[in-house]
Amino acid sequence: MQLRTLAGLNRTMSAIGAGCWTIGGLASNGPVPIGWAGVDDEAAYAALQATHELGITVYDTADVYGLGHSERLLGRFLRTIDRRAVTVTSKVGYFAGTAAHPYHPTQLTGQFETTLANLGTGYLDGYFLHSSDFGPDDRYLDAAVSTMSMLRAKGLIRSIGMRAPHEFAEQWAGTDHPHASRTERFLRLFRRVKPDLLTVRYNLLSPRYGPQETDIFAFARRHGVGVLIKQVLGQGVLTGRYDPHSTPVFPAGDHRAADPMFRPAALAGAAELLSRLGERFGTSPHDRLRVAVQYALAADPDAVVLVGFRDKHQIATTTAASTSALSDEELADLRSILAGAQDHPRSSTSTTRSRT
Ligand SMILES: NC(=O)c1ccc[n+]([C@@H]2O[C@H](COP(=O)([O-])OP(=O)(O)OC[C@H]3O[C@@H](n4cnc5c(N)ncnc54)[C@H](OP(=O)(O)O)[C@@H]3O)[C@@H](O)[C@H]2O)c1
Repeated sequence: MQLRTLAGLNRTMSAIGAGCWTIGGLASNGPVPIGWAGVDDEAAYAALQATHELGITVYDTADVYGLGHSERLLGRFLRTIDRRAVTVTSKVGYFAGTAAHPYHPTQLTGQFETTLANLGTGYLDGYFLHSSDFGPDDRYLDAAVSTMSMLRAKGLIRSIGMRAPHEFAEQWAGTDHPHASRTERFLRLFRRVKPDLLTVRYNLLSPRYGPQETDIFAFARRHGVGVLIKQVLGQGVLTGRYDPHSTPVFPAGDHRAADPMFRPAALAGAAELLSRLGERFGTSPHDRLRVAVQYALAADPDAVVLVGFRDKHQIATTTAASTSALSDEELADLRSILAGAQDHPRSSTSTTRSRT
């Protein structure tokens, strides 16, 4: 397992982290589906045990993943290993309970205590403001920031995190670019929160940036902020297992039912890209995983790549793909294929760009 030192935490850890959203299983937060169907707890637990054997030392979860179920399953596992040897992050901000808002101070501190209890730990290495909705006129922003700072000052959390936009170039702020206001909003929140860590969605379908544009990785580096990359497998789409001619059906409580990435146009765009990549890199499951994971690992030499999984086979095959680096020539070819796909009118990048 490759090791990386994450800025913001200044800690060395595995380059691949276990993303524990999937293992929360089916769930809804009020009317909003937030889960994954068909997850078997014991298979998921066996996968957590396998992470340890595979050299993974990073675990990312959230209070809403399975409404506490992911945290509790991870907590069962953490109690069996040396907690201090691993990095554990969780998140808050989408679940309001009976409070007026998820970031109401009593709700935030209550969720934090429950998260520690669920995980069976006395501290978190990273605690993320999961949502960027701080209420009308950002009413709950100041209190959320001061509560997080207080938790960090007490040593209960070792770093504060927030999410970055899926599409970002610093130069878009103050222009008439379609994402200007989203960029300005992120920059305002970033200045206010002063995070140590960011999570960034980044995969083969992500937009690419020009030489004059500061992307999120360069931005984070300049600010000494660590980056956790998520959705490198496009939630399964980039493994090539979806048929673009038939829309997958997901049961109630599975967030993918409402996700544009699983609609025919986006699946067709992804299939087209995968077909071009397959000609150069091969089409076996390992070939697909290798290209997806290595592309994310190449984005930034210090970022940690979170991968979702539901069983031991998935986490083991994804980790195996992470140990098989692309040569300089392969990486150059990959970037050239992606640049061509982005310019192509039916490209997957354009079909998924508006997803938030
Ligand atoms: N997505 C977000 O908005 C977000 C936000 C903050 C943090 N994160 C963190 O980032 C982590 C990773 O993102 P993600 O889980 O959303 O997406 P992801 O890693 O791109 O996709 C995970 C899914 O890909 C499929 N998969 C995984 N390994 C596979 C393999 N070896 N072969 C074939 N299919 C495989 C599985 O789908 P099936 O379940 O269908 O088998 C799995 O659930 C999350 O778990 C979470 O900890 C995510």
